[in-house]
Amino acid sequence: MKTKVAIIGAGPSGLLLGHLFKAAGVDCVVVERQSRDYVLGRIRAGVLETVTTGLMEKLGLDARLKAEGLIEEGFNLATDDRLIRIDIKALTGKHVTVYGQTEVTRDLMDAAPERGLRIMFEAKEVAIHGVGGDAPYLTFAKDGVEHRLDCAFVAGCDGFHGPSRKAIPASAAREYEREYPFGWLGILADVPPCHDELIYANTARGFALASMRSKTRSRYYIQVPLTDRVEDWSEDRLWDELAARFDPISTHGVTRGKALEMSIAPLRSYVFETMRHGRLFLAGDAAHIVPPTGAKGLNLAASDVHYLAEALIAFFNGGDEAGLTGYEAKALARIWKAERFSWQLTKLMHRFPEDGAFEHRMQTAELDYVATSTAMQTAIAENYVGLPL
Ligand code: FAD
Ligand code: DHB
Repeated sequence: MKTKVAIIGAGPSGLLLGHLFKAAGVDCVVVERQSRDYVLGRIRAGVLETVTTGLMEKLGLDARLKAEGLIEEGFNLATDDRLIRIDIKALTGKHVTVYGQTEVTRDLMDAAPERGLRIMFEAKEVAIHGVGGDAPYLTFAKDGVEHRLDCAFVAGCDGFHGPSRKAIPASAAREYEREYPFGWLGILADVPPCHDELIYANTARGFALASMRSKTRSRYYIQVPLTDRVEDWSEDRLWDELAARFDPISTHGVTRGKALEMSIAPLRSYVFETMRHGRLFLAGDAAHIVPPTGAKGLNLAASDVHYLAEALIAFFNGGDEAGLTGYEAKALARIWKAERFSWQLTKLMHRFPEDGAFEHRMQTAELDYVATSTAMQTAIAENYVGLPL
């Protein structure tokens, strides 16, 4: 097989990139290790910036997003007894949209056949070859048959654990990393949300987030020690914990229901500097991870893809190499600012085991400052809606 761009990974990065190439007449193939159902079963992000909804609109794939997405014009930071509303619409003129990553992925997958986007699911042992030269290719096995995919470029959109980043020699890159001493335990359930807008709460019992997927489907998270396993948490125990953290501050109180999904995700900040090695480009979680506080992960993947698509399409349409050379610097400028915001909000809203009374007073003072300062609220709001491209 032969194509212009071999895309590894059918998460949001790989699928968006594939559709942008197809729309511009650039041939590409997406190679994904898992099945379609497995990818659609992963419950992840839920808040989209206009960068992400804008890409869906540009592709003409936003009909369901427009019909079902919830426009959010504000969100809340909270303590045990206080809600601080950040009016993002008034402060920035923008909004965010609640629409699950799973739904974005489904819309992109459903549109693939009609747009001629080829996705090869269940491709095993994907290996990258020759990106240092001008004739790279992938090898992989599918249904017991060995395949070779020749291409001009490889796009590594294969998430944090994929092979693309590992194909770049350590001597050609630099890693920046911070791990956090807790994870997020999440639950998804068909119950109405406890509040009309999202709440990020720093409570005496630890961080908690009240989010949603619709007016009838709630998504909650709580901070748990890294040693906790999902099996340690019965649904009842988790609902009790959520009620303890949210009932005092939310309008409707926590409604309990059967869990559609429960999982624990560790929190990490990570940036891999370089995003290009010869003819291999990295995008999304393959190159960077943010802690989920602030909902930047998926949206950063979308901005990387925007820059990368622009650069490669310009190259194929006119031989312009400037975009390819400039991709990394453009993407990293936005990535580091999102890393800063996610790190800052994580520090402000979580209880760190090593922190004492002084650090807690610092959090309280900062939240009090946010509550009374339009300048502070504006800084938070403009990062939350997403910095300009
Ligand atoms: P991914 O979505 O990881 O997609 C990569 C794809 O590559 C996957 O489909 C994978 O199967 C495939 N792949 C991997 N290895 C191979 C291989 N060898 N061969 C072929 N294909 C391969 N962000 C938020 O904003 N809010 C959240 O609440 C949130 N929760 C998260 C929870 C978890 C458990 C995780 C892991 C991430 C979460 N994120 C969240 C981050 C957000 O989901 C990611 O930033 C986003 O998925 C990045 O998209 P991506 O396409 O770059 O990577
Ligand atoms: C969700 C996840 C986040 O990390 C966040 O900051 C907001 C919402 C969610 O899954 O709904």
